[in-house]
Amino acid sequence: MSKRTVLTGITTTGTPHLGNYVGAIRPAITASHRDDVRACYFLADYHALIKCREPEVVHQSTLEIAATWLALGLDTDKAVFYRQSDIPEISELTWLLTCITAKGLMNRAHAYKAAVQENVEKNEDADFGINMGLFSYPILMAADILMFNAHDVPVGKDQVQHLEMARDIAQRFNHHFGDHFVLPEAVVDDNVSILPGQDGRKMSKSYNNSIPLWLPEKKLRKSIMRIVTNSLEPGEPKQTEDSALFAIYSAFANAGQRDAMKQAFAEGIGWGDAKQQCFELINAELKTARSAYEELISSPAKIEERLQEGAERAREITVPLMRQLRAAVGIRPLV
Ligand code: TRP
Repeated sequence: MSKRTVLTGITTTGTPHLGNYVGAIRPAITASHRDDVRACYFLADYHALIKCREPEVVHQSTLEIAATWLALGLDTDKAVFYRQSDIPEISELTWLLTCITAKGLMNRAHAYKAAVQENVEKNEDADFGINMGLFSYPILMAADILMFNAHDVPVGKDQVQHLEMARDIAQRFNHHFGDHFVLPEAVVDDNVSILPGQDGRKMSKSYNNSIPLWLPEKKLRKSIMRIVTNSLEPGEPKQTEDSALFAIYSAFANAGQRDAMKQAFAEGIGWGDAKQQCFELINAELKTARSAYEELISSPAKIEERLQEGAERAREITVPLMRQLRAAVGIRPLV
C-alpha cells in the first residue's frame, strides 16, 4: 500500500484553545491513525519568530503545544512529531528555494499585502514594521512541506494561498533541477466547521474570545458560562442557527446528542442549563487528556525526549533528500 504523507505545522505563539483543538488537532490525530497515511506533524517555532519577539512566549508555547498533542494521544510511533528548528535541512532548503522564488510571487502573498495595506491606510511608509521573515514566510512554509514530499496539507482557508505558492515553487525547482518534489495539495475540510468564540465570531486569540483548551474544570465551566446568548427566558423556544453555544456544543456532540439539544432549544431550555450541558460534554471529552497534560507539562524532560526521537526520525527523511538536492544545484564535493 502506498502511503500518502500528510503534514501540518502549528506556529508556537500561543496557548491552544478549543478552536485549535476542534479545527486542527483533533482531526490531525484521527488522520494519524489511518494505515494509508504517514503523518508528519511539527511545531513551527521558526514561524513563531516572524511575529513574536518574546523568547519566553515562544519557549512556553512550544512546551504547551507539544504537551497538548502528546496528551491527546498522538501516537509518536506512527506519526513523526518534531520541532521545525531541530531539522537544519529545513533552513537549508529554505535558502535553495529562496533563490528560485520570484519576488513578484511573494509580493502577492495575502499576509504581506495586508500589512502593506494597513501601512498605506495609516499614511505610513509602505514597508513600515515589515520584516523579511513576514515577506519570505511562504518560502519557509514551502520548505517545511517539500522537505517531506508531503502530498496532503490540512490547513485553514487562510493558508490555501501558501499551498499554491509551495506548488509553484516546487514546480519551478523541478523544472530547473529535475524531478525532486511532490506537488502538495491543500486539504480544507468543510466538515470541520470553524468554531465560534464566546462572542460568536471565529474563536481566535486576537479576538480575545477564546476558551483555552486546558482550563481547570471550574474555570472551563466559568468560561463556557460566558458564551454570549440572547435574553430569551427559560420556556421560550430558541434558535440553533447563529447560536455560538449550539455550535460549540455540536463540535463535541455525536449526532444523537446534537439532535437532542436541538429539540431542547425548540422546547425552550434555559441558557444556564444548556451551558451546563455543554460544559459537561466538553469536560467529559477532555478530562482524561487534561490529567495527562498536567503530568506532561510538569516533566518537560519527557517531552523533550519525545521531540528528540521525532527529530531523529524526521532526519532519516530530510538528510538524504537534502544531500540529493544540494548535489542537484551543484553543491557537492569537488572529487
Ligand atoms: N503557517 C501555518 C499557520 O500559521 C503554520 C505552518 C507553518 C504550516 N508551516 C506549515 C502549516 C507547513 C502547514 C504546513 O497556520
